Amino acid sequence: MTNEAAKTRREARLRTPSDLGENAIKDLSGALTALLADVYALYLKSKNYHWHMSGPHFRDYHLLLDEQADQIFAIADPIAERVRKLGGTTLRSIGHIARLQRIKDNDADYVTPLDMLAELREDNRDLARSMRETHGLCDEHGDVATASLLEVWIDEAERRAWFLFEATQFGDAPGR
Ligand SMILES: [Fe+2]
Repeated sequence: MTNEAAKTRREARLRTPSDLGENAIKDLSGALTALLADVYALYLKSKNYHWHMSGPHFRDYHLLLDEQADQIFAIADPIAERVRKLGGTTLRSIGHIARLQRIKDNDADYVTPLDMLAELREDNRDLARSMRETHGLCDEHGDVATASLLEVWIDEAERRAWFLFEATQFGDAPGR
């Protein structure tokens, strides 16, 4: 058997049967895997800020970011398994995440509490936007199962952005 034939045979073992076309599987797997990379990046950033929070609102913000990180982490496995159910393949490693993530890391030594919340608010808003774009792709290919999962996750991302937005209103303003 040639190397090429062996590779094709190995890949066939991961080709879960699906009635969606080859293009649909490729498009949806790609979009969902990029989303998954963003989910891991945002999970770790929320934990980073949970761990490195400081200041007079420490307890509130520390707990808020832990709740949000848990909610983000909870959608990672269902996203990856959707890709496998569709017959595609998904993330393999931290390096793979780093190559695909669109949400930026922040490795700064110190970030002010309000900057942390504002940055996460934008990141969650961006995540909701990417999910909506992926939802559009699902509609194009008739993948109602992924679309219905995304609808719940978009609502959750918007709720996180709302909480982060409100928590930064009047924050650290003079007189407070
Ligand atoms: Fe913790």
